[in-house]
Amino acid sequence: MSAELEPTVHPEAEREVEILAAEKEVYPPSEEVVARANVPNYMEVREEANKDFIAFWDARAKEFIDWYEPYEKVLDDSNAPFFKWFVGGKTNIAHNALDRHVHTWRRNKLALIWEGENGELRTFSYFRLWQEVKRFANVLRSMGVKKGDTVTIYMGRVPELAIAMLASAKIGAIHSVVYGGFSEQALADRIEDAQSRVLVTCDGAWLRGKTVNLKDIADEALKRSPVVETVIVYQRTGQEVNMEQGRDYWWHELMNLPIASPRCETEVMDAEDPLFILYTSGTTGKPKGVLHTCGGYQVYIATTLKYAFDLKDEDRWWCAADPGWITGHSYIVYAPLILGVTGFMYEGAPNYPYPNRWWQLIEKYAINVFYTAPTAIRGLMRFGEAWPNRHDLSSLRLLGTVGEPINPEAWRWYYRVIGKERCPIIDTWWQTETGGFMITPTPVVPLKPGSATIPFAGIDADVVREDGTPCDPNEDGYLVVKRPWPGMARTVWGDPDRYVAQYWSEFKAQGWYFTGDSARKDSDGYFWIIGRMDDVIKVSGYRLGTAEIESALVSHKDVAEAAVIGVPDELKGNVIYAFCILNAGVSKDDGLVDELKQHVRREVGPIAVPAAIEFVDSLPKTRSGKIMRRLLKAQVLGQDAGDTSTLAD
Ligand code: PRX
Repeated sequence: MSAELEPTVHPEAEREVEILAAEKEVYPPSEEVVARANVPNYMEVREEANKDFIAFWDARAKEFIDWYEPYEKVLDDSNAPFFKWFVGGKTNIAHNALDRHVHTWRRNKLALIWEGENGELRTFSYFRLWQEVKRFANVLRSMGVKKGDTVTIYMGRVPELAIAMLASAKIGAIHSVVYGGFSEQALADRIEDAQSRVLVTCDGAWLRGKTVNLKDIADEALKRSPVVETVIVYQRTGQEVNMEQGRDYWWHELMNLPIASPRCETEVMDAEDPLFILYTSGTTGKPKGVLHTCGGYQVYIATTLKYAFDLKDEDRWWCAADPGWITGHSYIVYAPLILGVTGFMYEGAPNYPYPNRWWQLIEKYAINVFYTAPTAIRGLMRFGEAWPNRHDLSSLRLLGTVGEPINPEAWRWYYRVIGKERCPIIDTWWQTETGGFMITPTPVVPLKPGSATIPFAGIDADVVREDGTPCDPNEDGYLVVKRPWPGMARTVWGDPDRYVAQYWSEFKAQGWYFTGDSARKDSDGYFWIIGRMDDVIKVSGYRLGTAEIESALVSHKDVAEAAVIGVPDELKGNVIYAFCILNAGVSKDDGLVDELKQHVRREVGPIAVPAAIEFVDSLPKTRSGKIMRRLLKAQVLGQDAGDTSTLAD
């Protein structure tokens, strides 16, 4: 979906009415769904888990994960909020995702089916994926990558992205995947922060029949952030690229050398050793590197996927996210492999070449469980029912959504048109920081359109007031999590103080994790997520920080100051509005608007391009100099400005 679509303001009041109606619309699970559920007695299991969450996670850690050496303790909370899980346990996620399966009947089972945008098909059995990962792990080792080093991965949606992640994990390196839709400065900042000496990238990526010049972008980023010594380039598009002698190597050439041997020991990792960094936006400043570790993360993602999406060994699972975001890390790459299921990955856009591409893929590969974002559903809904109705979607058993609140209208369409009123919709609320699903139904939980339903087993989430007292039913408040869980982020890379400040200081006295979201609970205890309370904007489900876009704008020679806000949009959830103060003497013409949009596209990426840019002479600020984005938003939406007593003038 083009970042330049003209925004339509979704009246918030309308949404409110829609949600109040949806609250009373309950979809209980069918007998058939309950009968085949992995955990048919989930409500009882959940109750038990909430009484003794340590025992619950202990059992799951033994059920889903192999340990080279057992852990001594499930949870160490002596240094909260720096919690440790499965203390002393030794493991490796690559062992659980691959090594162990090749010694079972799954050896020849498909681990991954991939289709390129051009229709190209590639398949990987567990055995073949294991071989490829070992070979690339040896390539990384030959480039001097050791346990604890960081490897930045910046690629399109190709199987090699998963191979690079798994290979890093196998040798104990910490991967930092940067979404392929990010651009020069965004990539440079992330490389710099992670101090990666190795970058894995592609020549280009296919999107809507055109190529995105990933290697060119990477070259520019490396000029700005010269820590990288080695670049490994996977050839996807075959376009002309610059290869710098002594720094840049072709993936396929390296994989043909004797160094790429398929004999490679898996590194033994401590449960609390770092597994990966994933950059995400938060309140103010540069994106922060959320750190996940080797033990608890595995236990958490395997459990949540198995329970919520009810996966069986014979299933074909399609998580249509990008591997470059947490959804892809947890639920395209790692959890499905840990569970030994067959995953599907598609390279391109959902509506290319026609709006039936996804439905065609579901039919062609007989996908059983499908997981996507509300924005994609709304986008495809616009094209009408005839497109999905041309396809046999009867293989589908369950559907899922993630990334932003799903409006009841889109939910109902998804349920009726795609799921034919047979497939429960698993609306999963979670975050980069939580590692996996936090508030989600399982197939046996009654559903309400637009609600992520209830906290997962062992998760103590709540909606509270500023002083920590619980909100009344239907009262808006802060969404918090009151006890730790194994998949939680452990810190912000290189900045533990920021970790504490960002997540653990709002409700410091209580020791609760603050999510940054507002929500309400209805009288049945169902959660309704409202949205972000901080300077994070969700555009088409992508998480963007105001600070990163503002600094891109002010890096343009004509801009003195900038402020950006999110404005509700029917299709994308939100779009970006930017306000710029120009330098003296610069003329405010439309040409400059276009130029600034191009500039943001080049610096941050297409998803960050503002839908509108307004030139102003001043910005509303508090006396301490903080921009009052709330006032800008009220102005754009034509709402009352509310309390303006802190405004400087
Ligand atoms: O605001 C919530 C929204 O996405 C934020 C987390 O974004 P990110 O870290 O990029 O992770 C997205 C994928 C897990 C949350 O703070 N969000 C995520 N899922 C939902 C949601 N809002 C409403 N309903 C959801 N199901």
